Amino acid sequence: MSRVIIALDYPHPTQALELVDRLGDGADFYKVGLELFTRAGAPLVEELRRRGKRVFLDLKFHDIPATVAGAVRSASRLGAEFLTVHAAGGRAMMEAAVEAAGSVADAPVADAADTPAHAPPVRILAVTLLTSLSREEVERTLGRAPVDPTHEVARLADLAVGAGVHGVVSSPLEVESLRRRLGSDPLLVTPGIRLAGGEAHDQARIATPEQAIRAGADYLVIGRAVTGAPDPSRALAEIHRTLEAT
Ligand code: C5P
Repeated sequence: MSRVIIALDYPHPTQALELVDRLGDGADFYKVGLELFTRAGAPLVEELRRRGKRVFLDLKFHDIPATVAGAVRSASRLGAEFLTVHAAGGRAMMEAAVEAAGSVADAPVADAADTPAHAPPVRILAVTLLTSLSREEVERTLGRAPVDPTHEVARLADLAVGAGVHGVVSSPLEVESLRRRLGSDPLLVTPGIRLAGGEAHDQARIATPEQAIRAGADYLVIGRAVTGAPDPSRALAEIHRTLEAT
């Protein structure tokens, strides 16, 4: 099974499915985020599942525990395998998300009509600090200073793992310290991947696929390095080659 998750950052499902067709068997795991899900919603996720693809639904839930639990159940009935929640939503919210994920996995499929056969168990991933936040914005948001963002990421990751989440999303530059801190169990999923010599785009904290895997990442989320390449299949094949050699 591949460790590469391709980010479908498109405004319209047609573009997303065109890329899925182009990559064919080269990619088996796709991330659907807020832009695409808000436009194309459940039918797109179901279409990806029909095509035999694994789905990471990156909707970063952050609400009261009962609402998040309901959203987790809905997402897992769609066949999403990874789901994100904000660690800042608190321990009770994350516990509710994890419990809801387990309840769907264990439950007999009563509503089989809207549950794809062989739906995979859903895994809850926590997002700690958004990497778009500067230190000053974190301080303004939390209402205290000074704040060390690295320390906040570690603190929120501890809170998330303590609440039972299955994994944490982190920048590739934090993977090594989080792996040391959290041990071998939690999944570490990292965006910010660029090919050696490739364009950084708007990402500041980047690593190559080999560096991220060596640092201890389980899955790499890759967007523009593949989707923006002149030949996406070739770019992805190159990534697979470097990973096989890692
Ligand atoms: O195109 P690129 O490879 O930068 O895309 C990475 C994907 O991961 C995008 O969907 C982006 O929203 C997401 N992401 C990120 N950095 C984070 C969290 C999510 O780039 N800290």
